[in-house]
Amino acid sequence: MEEVQKFLKDCGVYYLATVEGDQPRVRPFGTAEIFEGKLYIQTGKSKNVSKQIAANNKVELCAFKDGSWIRVAGTLIRDDRVEAKKDMLDKNPSLRGMYNELDDNTEVLYFEKGIVTIYSFTNPPKVIEF
Ligand SMILES: Cc1cc2nc3c(=O)[nH]c(=O)nc-3n(C[C@H](O)[C@H](O)[C@H](O)COP(=O)(O)O)c2cc1C
Repeated sequence: MEEVQKFLKDCGVYYLATVEGDQPRVRPFGTAEIFEGKLYIQTGKSKNVSKQIAANNKVELCAFKDGSWIRVAGTLIRDDRVEAKKDMLDKNPSLRGMYNELDDNTEVLYFEKGIVTIYSFTNPPKVIEF
């Protein structure tokens, strides 16, 4: 998971896909942190992305850097603990302009299980199941 988190951070931005009914939805995301050994992302409960994950927690993300790209496909679990939100916000202090760990909107979620694939034009895909 550290390798995945570093890859995503090095990319700077990844694209998170959710499902709404039979319609895929995708948007840029940047948050990716390890807390208690799990990969967490952050959003706001008021966003459509949050509502889509609440209805169907299967997601996939993709990012690219330096000739390599990554896919993470899995399920996301909301973690309502203040300490999990605090960890995310402490590691991303710029988010504190919009969020704090005690508000009703801040949401952090971790990947429960899934599959990571790192691809490149030159090497065979590297697959990590978690
Ligand atoms: C580079 C970049 C990184 C972003 N990172 C996040 C993020 O980590 N979490 C988040 O909730 N929104 C993030 N956003 C904003 C979302 O992309 C934006 O709110 C989007 O519209 C949410 O999807 P939705 O409209 O389907 O709810 C980011 C935007 C950009 C441009």
